[in-house]
Amino acid sequence: MNNIYCENEEKTKEFGQILGSFLGEGDVLCLSGGLGAGKTYLVKAIATVLGVNPSDVTSPTFSIMNIYKGKVGAIKHFDLYRLNNSEELEDIGFSEYAGNDGITFIEWGELFADEMPTQHLNVKIIPEGVGRRIFLEPCGRHYEELCEKVWTFVNVRN
Ligand SMILES: Nc1ncnc2c1ncn2[C@@H]1O[C@H](COP(=O)(O)OP(=O)(O)O)[C@@H](O)[C@H]1O
Ligand SMILES: [Mg+2]
Repeated sequence: MNNIYCENEEKTKEFGQILGSFLGEGDVLCLSGGLGAGKTYLVKAIATVLGVNPSDVTSPTFSIMNIYKGKVGAIKHFDLYRLNNSEELEDIGFSEYAGNDGITFIEWGELFADEMPTQHLNVKIIPEGVGRRIFLEPCGRHYEELCEKVWTFVNVRN
């Protein structure tokens, strides 16, 4: 299993909360899927279980990076859509912020695939029918194990 169909926002929220409950210090999630796929929506759901007030989570389209205070430390939320090149990425201090302490979410990381931390979890959201299909694609052993735990939990629940 590597994907789940979420027929509405409520299902996306539930899945986000399950995924969030398995995340820990240093984890990096790269979210892709095009404009309006539901990346920010999913980050909001995940951040809720990490102790962030959901109303604090907004799209970093213009700010490029938001930082929220969660119970495991800083939650760093990037949206790289408006950056033009890797120099701009470096200028915002991306390599110092991404990974390391707390938990990192990166929307549009695929635009700078070479610049992403080598180990990370790709979360791909594809609109399908009235809902969204969400794929988890792990890069690295740590994220393979994380995905196994998430899917086992999802299967036991259904
Ligand atoms: N499973 C779902 N089914 C239908 N609509 C959804 C689902 N998940 C999220 N949405 C909606 O999709 C929209 C996505 O917006 P947003 O998260 O800002 O997109 P992105 O960050 O990918 O550009 C939100 O209005 C949200 O309500
Ligand atoms: Mg967004």
